[in-house]
Amino acid sequence: MSDDIQQSFQVVSRKELDTRNIAKKISSLFHEGDLIILDGDLGAGKTHFVKGFAEGLHSQDLVTSPTFSLANFYRSSSSPLLHIDLYRIDSETELNDLGLYEYFDQSITIIEWGKKFSNCFDSYVLITFQLIDHEIRQISFSAKGVLCWEKVEKIKQELAEE
Ligand SMILES: Nc1ncnc2c1ncn2[C@@H]1O[C@H](COP(=O)(O)OP(=O)(O)OP(=O)(O)O)[C@@H](O)[C@H]1O
Ligand SMILES: [Mg+2]
Repeated sequence: MSDDIQQSFQVVSRKELDTRNIAKKISSLFHEGDLIILDGDLGAGKTHFVKGFAEGLHSQDLVTSPTFSLANFYRSSSSPLLHIDLYRIDSETELNDLGLYEYFDQSITIIEWGKKFSNCFDSYVLITFQLIDHEIRQISFSAKGVLCWEKVEKIKQELAEE
């Protein structure tokens, strides 16, 4: 199987709670060292996805948008969560200077606006949010790297089970 990004599957979220529940449901499939890149326009639902994901990890910490802080760290009884937002970062040098890579092995890392730097990462699950209508979002799952591709298959199975 090719190591390139491959389109896998989509689900539809009809309201904010759907997006949170999707994230909550799949969070247990991820572990320290895993990377998720979230893509999609302003207000598409990326941060709300992270809220649901942190809830799934049983984190008690408040999830907020890291657009200005650039990175937030949420503690959890399972895997800690590193939540990064690269909206305001324009160059690879700036990204490297943040010094965040050293935390990737110890956390599940989720990066909003990370697709513009996707060449910096060998292996990740890519989740794309497309605004269809007022509250309707299409959420697409794809991956780079064989292990992440397998993860997307597991996500598909998990979300198919009701
Ligand atoms: N189906 C949905 N899923 C997620 N959010 C939704 C949905 N429908 C409406 N919303 C609303 O859309 C907004 C999404 O905001 P959020 O901060 O999660 O977006 P974002 O993609 O992180 O934006 P930014 O790029 O500015 O960080 C919220 O106000 C939320 O209530
Ligand atoms: Mg956001």
